[in-house]
Amino acid sequence: MNVDFYEKVWMWVAGVIIAVFLAMIAVSAAAYGIRPPSRIEMIDPAAVMADPRFAQQGVTRLPDGRVQATMVVGMFFWLPAEIHVPAGTPVTFRVTSIDVTHGFEIAKTNVNTMVVPGYVSQLTYTFDTPGEYLIVCNEYCGTGHHTMGGKVIVEARP
Ligand code: CUA
Repeated sequence: MNVDFYEKVWMWVAGVIIAVFLAMIAVSAAAYGIRPPSRIEMIDPAAVMADPRFAQQGVTRLPDGRVQATMVVGMFFWLPAEIHVPAGTPVTFRVTSIDVTHGFEIAKTNVNTMVVPGYVSQLTYTFDTPGEYLIVCNEYCGTGHHTMGGKVIVEARP
């Protein structure tokens, strides 16, 4: 089969681009530990409020000094709707849904995960700058989707 010289060049260029992209995915996963934020931790969405992991929502300080924010989401609210966390300290968010799939995004940060009923979404973020950050739902979840706002108040360290 005769393949034109320029056609061959472009085929090789495309092949190299694909190889580079696959290598970047492998390197970011292996060397930097970059992976989707949702881990496999399951929960019964109908029994979230009775589950000891989520019965108490809000911000707690763990014995090792880390801060944990436990949140429940449903149509069309965040529980709690406002949380206060310290700046410069890693905050681990644990979020689960009691009904449909929602999106947990904190504007102006890279905190962004789907919240799928039946699973616990967990990720950790450190706020460097004190201020008010908006929590938005970025998965269409029903007629009140656009009203699903929450707040993170990041307080300067004393
Ligand atoms: Cu919840 Cu959109």
